Amino acid sequence: MSPIIIAVDGTAAAGKGTLARNLARIYHLSHLDTGRLYRAVGFKMLKEGKDLADREAAVSIANSLTHEDFDNPALRNEDIGVAASHVAAFEEVRKILLVFQRSFADQPPAGMQGVIIDGRDIGSIILPAAPCKIFVTASLEVRAERRLKELHQKGINCIYEAILEDIKARDARDETRKASPLRPAEGAYILDTSTLGIEECVKKACAYVESKYPEARKHIE
Ligand code: CDP
Repeated sequence: MSPIIIAVDGTAAAGKGTLARNLARIYHLSHLDTGRLYRAVGFKMLKEGKDLADREAAVSIANSLTHEDFDNPALRNEDIGVAASHVAAFEEVRKILLVFQRSFADQPPAGMQGVIIDGRDIGSIILPAAPCKIFVTASLEVRAERRLKELHQKGINCIYEAILEDIKARDARDETRKASPLRPAEGAYILDTSTLGIEECVKKACAYVESKYPEARKHIE
């Protein structure tokens, strides 16, 4: 069987990461959360006191990233998500990170059946030939609730209204930027998770994956 390649895109806090981690476990896939790449650039911009509109600084930081930068637990904080969405609008930053993402997809580690990559432009720009493309979304209110819960579980203090505004602004930036604006890739399977629990989402996504890769479970059971 040829390697499984799954592109997962979607709006902020819609459940892309949870879905991708589950599919990676079920089908033995290597998973890349590309939000961490943009968040790493955003994190360093804030840490070094750079203006988020400073294109040159963002490009220089993107060029200097190392693997350790992607493992920082602080990357999941909401202010870093906001910073990420600013630097993600720079075409040059996206080009630098594109190289890393494509080389990840080209070399699934030994023992894995393939790769699953989640982000905003995976199905449209990074892996346009991926046979399996999923676009995950949910209502703004549901996403804000979920992000609030995630942050509270980590002991981070925040309020619903502020998270809602952050996500709204982030969606607007992601959808209206010139470089790779967020939208479902052609032919993507649209998964609205507003009224679905994790198990139901995974079940629906598995049915779609197996419609594209009927043998996906055969080699691992
Ligand atoms: O987890 P959440 O959906 O909140 O965000 P994320 O996937 O970690 O991405 C953070 C921000 O990085 C997004 O709002 C996008 O602006 C940007 N991003 C992007 O432009 N392209 C990607 N492939 C991944 C993230």
